Amino acid sequence: MKNVVLLGSTGSIGTSTVKVADDLPDQLHLVGLAAGNNVELLLEQTRNHKPAAISITDPAKAQVLRDTLGFTTQVYSGDEGLLKLATLPEADIVLIAIVGTAGLQPALAAIRAGKDIAVASKEILVMAGETVMREAEKHGVKVLAVDSEHSAIFQCLDGKPTSSVRQLLLTASGGPFRDRAAWPRENFSEITVERALKHPSWVMGRKITIDSATLFNKGLEMIEARWLFDIEMERVGVVVHPQSVVHSMVEFVDGSIIAQLSTPDMCLPIQYALTYPARAASERVQTNFAKIGSLTFEEPDTERFPALNLARRAGEVGGTLPAVLNAANEVAVEAFCNRRITFAQIPELVARTMKRHEVVAHPTLDQIIAADLWARSDASQP
Ligand SMILES: NC(=O)c1ccc[n+]([C@@H]2O[C@H](COP(=O)([O-])OP(=O)(O)OC[C@H]3O[C@@H](n4cnc5c(N)ncnc54)[C@H](OP(=O)(O)O)[C@@H]3O)[C@@H](O)[C@H]2O)c1
Repeated sequence: MKNVVLLGSTGSIGTSTVKVADDLPDQLHLVGLAAGNNVELLLEQTRNHKPAAISITDPAKAQVLRDTLGFTTQVYSGDEGLLKLATLPEADIVLIAIVGTAGLQPALAAIRAGKDIAVASKEILVMAGETVMREAEKHGVKVLAVDSEHSAIFQCLDGKPTSSVRQLLLTASGGPFRDRAAWPRENFSEITVERALKHPSWVMGRKITIDSATLFNKGLEMIEARWLFDIEMERVGVVVHPQSVVHSMVEFVDGSIIAQLSTPDMCLPIQYALTYPARAASERVQTNFAKIGSLTFEEPDTERFPALNLARRAGEVGGTLPAVLNAANEVAVEAFCNRRITFAQIPELVARTMKRHEVVAHPTLDQIIAADLWARSDASQP
């Protein structure tokens, strides 16, 4: 039995993780659950899974939960609550699926407490990949990928060193605006929030869905891959694959390519991260190739989607620049969702903030957090 702490239990990844735990009651026990605001769903999950501790952002909501649950479950709140859960003595692994940067400190706390971490929140490795991987090595814990692309690469590599790799190939669905004829660049300013939120193959949280439409999501994943697999950015490639069946590939030095495939369902990479190194039997994901018909691939369009080159530059320069890219993008997505900027202005805003930033090489955690705050303030300027 593996004891799992789940941070972000009420979100898209969080609810899929709860499904995986429901599928494998003899193998996984949710010992800690943390949510942002959704008190009703957190309560329901707590009643079903009886974790030792839970946490919610707002202390007033935590009090409501305490009053409702009595003494059966320890209830925490705020950032301190996330740290308590991340270091819960009974936890074996902490899955971090909080949107934004709030997962970074809990991830480091979990590592320092000797817990393996399963990372869905890509911000953690984008901002502080060097620090997180160094700390994980120092404390002898695993950093497991939850993102379907990185899980795929992890499975394809199967322990082979990066010296045997020619390149990692991340697949991208291309998002809802992949078709150049239907969506020429000059029409990008007219793209509405509602249209950008319609993803062709995945149902996900709001922020990541917009990031999939701009391809910033793939850009963040390139940086994430660079750290997770300890490989230079030049050897991290992207290929557009609209069916989202090939989740990513590894091309080895001899020219052989290994890919991992399945119909898209986040339960699969989540389950693998939580049961690794074992593979647990599950009927949830079924793949029928005859039904899928064909798998197609194309070059990403870096002219209509500048996010890829911006992320490549941030990853190559390193230091505080990836944190700046990430923070400026969060501000830009928020501004787009609130109809303050157009879809086309999202990468422009990120590029402007990156240009103005003075990069700190090999930053400390404080310097990364300072760069994140600086970028948020800079990107918020008109
Ligand atoms: N969705 C996917 O398929 C997918 C795939 C790969 C990677 N990811 C990554 O996984 C992360 C989560 O994505 P998502 O799509 O699951 O997002 P989401 O649906 O928006 O869920 C976010 C979760 O984080 C919680 N949360 C937010 N701020 C919090 C805080 N300060 N303390 C505690 N909990 C907090 C939310 O709680 P409330 O809802 O209660 O407010 C919710 O449970 C993102 O970094 C994303 O890039 C997602």
